[in-house]
Amino acid sequence: MLEVRQFPYGEDNLGYLVHGKKEAAAIDPGPAGPVIEYLRRRGLILKEIRNTHSHSDHTGGNRSLAGAAGAEVVDSPGGGDFRLEGEGIEVIPVPGHTPDSVAFYYPGWVITGDTLFIANAGNCPPGRLAVFRRSLDRLLALPEETAVYPGHDYTERSLNRAAEIEPGNRDREEFRRMYQPPPVASTIGDERRINPYLRTDQPEVIAWLKRAGKPAATARERFRALVCGD
Ligand SMILES: [Fe+2]
Repeated sequence: MLEVRQFPYGEDNLGYLVHGKKEAAAIDPGPAGPVIEYLRRRGLILKEIRNTHSHSDHTGGNRSLAGAAGAEVVDSPGGGDFRLEGEGIEVIPVPGHTPDSVAFYYPGWVITGDTLFIANAGNCPPGRLAVFRRSLDRLLALPEETAVYPGHDYTERSLNRAAEIEPGNRDREEFRRMYQPPPVASTIGDERRINPYLRTDQPEVIAWLKRAGKPAATARERFRALVCGD
């Protein structure tokens, strides 16, 4: 059984340590200090350091943590699936936000980087939208109780924007009422119910786009309008 520990850093970045009883891997770790302290307290050995994608706000902590913990930085997505204490962690390619974006999946949780945020999705150049949509669909196909651990905490403003787009969505208000960070997390089921980027066929989403004067005739146009703002 592998656990996830979240480490907020910077303005709104979220780094992670995934671990069993003895072994750990860091994902987008941020400053080394709190991670090293947690490893020490739990008696954990850091086996490797990985990243959800190559943006510097996610990779900036790699080197100092590697030096402090004597762990290897493994290329993402080239490193592929890996194991901790015999338990497999699947590296799911989710290109879109960047060509090299990946998510880390273990039954029970997924670390989504800048691909999927709570009630929001990452930015994506227009030329990669189709592949980005497929990447989000791949995440949505995970079991609905899977905990979603995103790469940034944009939750407050994302929920506010979702409320403008889909004012009648009661599931979102229920999510807001029950939401108790830390950790900053939702589930795949929550995202299906509250994330406007994944709900482009909902009448309220279509109406909002039309009111905003955006092209909204096809699912593709609606997704583009939400992600790119045009
Ligand atoms: Fe990013």
